Amino acid sequence: MDINQFKITRKFLCDILEVATGTISRKIAKYENELKGHGTKVPLKVARQVIKESYSKNHLPKKQIQCFFNFKGGTGKTTITYNIAFLLYLFGYKILVIDCDAQGHLTKSILEDSDSNHVSIFEVLAKSHQIGDAIINVMPEFDLIPSSVKISFVDSLLSNQVRREEVLKDILSPLRKEYDFIFFDVNPSLSVLNRNVLVVSDRVNIISEAQPFSFQGMEMLLQEFDQLSKVAMNSKIDYRVLINKLEPKLKSNIDIVNALQDNAELKDKLFENAVRKCDDFNFSSKNQIPIPLITNKNNSNAKEDILQLGKEMLIDSCAGTANKEVRDAA
Ligand SMILES: Nc1ncnc2c1ncn2[C@@H]1O[C@H](COP(=O)(O)OP(=O)(O)OP(=O)(O)O)[C@@H](O)[C@H]1O
Ligand SMILES: [Mg+2]
Repeated sequence: MDINQFKITRKFLCDILEVATGTISRKIAKYENELKGHGTKVPLKVARQVIKESYSKNHLPKKQIQCFFNFKGGTGKTTITYNIAFLLYLFGYKILVIDCDAQGHLTKSILEDSDSNHVSIFEVLAKSHQIGDAIINVMPEFDLIPSSVKISFVDSLLSNQVRREEVLKDILSPLRKEYDFIFFDVNPSLSVLNRNVLVVSDRVNIISEAQPFSFQGMEMLLQEFDQLSKVAMNSKIDYRVLINKLEPKLKSNIDIVNALQDNAELKDKLFENAVRKCDDFNFSSKNQIPIPLITNKNNSNAKEDILQLGKEMLIDSCAGTANKEVRDAA
């Protein structure tokens, strides 16, 4: 990906910084040279800089690993991983995304040449390569560990190992301090690889649809979390639940959201912001443009929802890290 190919709209910059267009014009004025030839759009490089100076410098998250999870397929794990990773990149943070799904949908939406035989998490877990060999620098401060079909065989590799749920934890520990956020995308299963991802994640984001079956599945998932935390962790899995593909006009959807809000165990785990069903997500994946960087639409529910969700996730990640010293020592 070439950072110079991406821009954002001034309207989106206004929405991010919660200021009027006049203020944006003043903030970007010093980048006059870089803005030339881009019309009313703002190049990604400049937008990152402006957002860093006005917003992100006051939002210093604890460096952390998060995954987007569900053992149910098609709920939007890859879509949310992709868009939240790029939103937080736009905010100026340093990002690593790790594609642990052999289908490689995330890799395909980021890399033009996704079929090349690159080192994946499989070779790292097989100990034939170091983790550094698997990292592809996609853009300045945005790295990817790509998928590979070999990931389908990871479980047979891990199954006989001692502390088999903690292999990834040891491998990733040197990378923790390198990035503001490390995000995992996984396939829909409770494979040994995915259990490793759950163990290494500081935060697990369960991506769910507002369907009765998703709700039932969630109870099973939480039982699995409890079991896993007993065998492989010192603490409980820290999870949040995101409702994706929400259709607020459907009574059936609202009934499920209400039931979640009334559930004693889940009500404090729900993100305040849901992501509504919106065709722009399909446009985004077809055209390999992350939602925050789409410039042909000024008003998009997808843009609005990803922005609000990303801010909520960021603010959550900043809790307890009021200053840089605390953050770097964490
Ligand atoms: N909020 C949304 N509105 C409309 N379409 C969406 C939304 N979120 C995801 N989709 C679409 O739903 C489909 C499945 O999404 P995605 O591939 O992200 O799911 P997944 O959970 O990663 O699937 P898998 O379990 O196969 O990995 C895709 O076509 C995606 O574009
Ligand atoms: Mg997926």
